[in-house]
Amino acid sequence: MKNIELLQSAEGLLQIQPTQIALLANASAFLMSSLEQLNWVGFYLYDGQRLNVGPFQGNVACATIEMGKGVCGESATFLKTMVVDDVLNYDNHIACDSNSRSEVVIPILIKGQLFGVLDVDSPILNRFDLETVNFLEHFVKLLVKTIDI
Ligand code: SME
Repeated sequence: MKNIELLQSAEGLLQIQPTQIALLANASAFLMSSLEQLNWVGFYLYDGQRLNVGPFQGNVACATIEMGKGVCGESATFLKTMVVDDVLNYDNHIACDSNSRSEVVIPILIKGQLFGVLDVDSPILNRFDLETVNFLEHFVKLLVKTIDI
């Protein structure tokens, strides 16, 4: 499916989730099954101090990430999308899943406040091109609309 079609079907899916856990769980499953060459997709949620793992697809992951630490903590601290083309050559990377080679993390803001991050990992170097990053940022916008009811 093309990205525009994926976003249309995501919009429908996200709108009918009854709880926040259902929403995030199905959002991670949707991304894992829609995009190729991924090994981990999921959410880290901000509790006011640090990030805790939320619904995800993939191997067992680090449960807690401090702000500023790792690609997730960096994205959450600076509130910006982080794309790491080669995680083995990125000092501030936390290796939760040793299969990961590249990674993108997108901050999730609700009414201007940090809610958490979407973390997507690939076993392929340079997996996250501009088109894929734009798609994921658009997906997060749809997600925020649904959380923000
Ligand atoms: N690599 C992340 C940690 C989370 S795992 O990839 C699931 C990071 O550096 O923040």
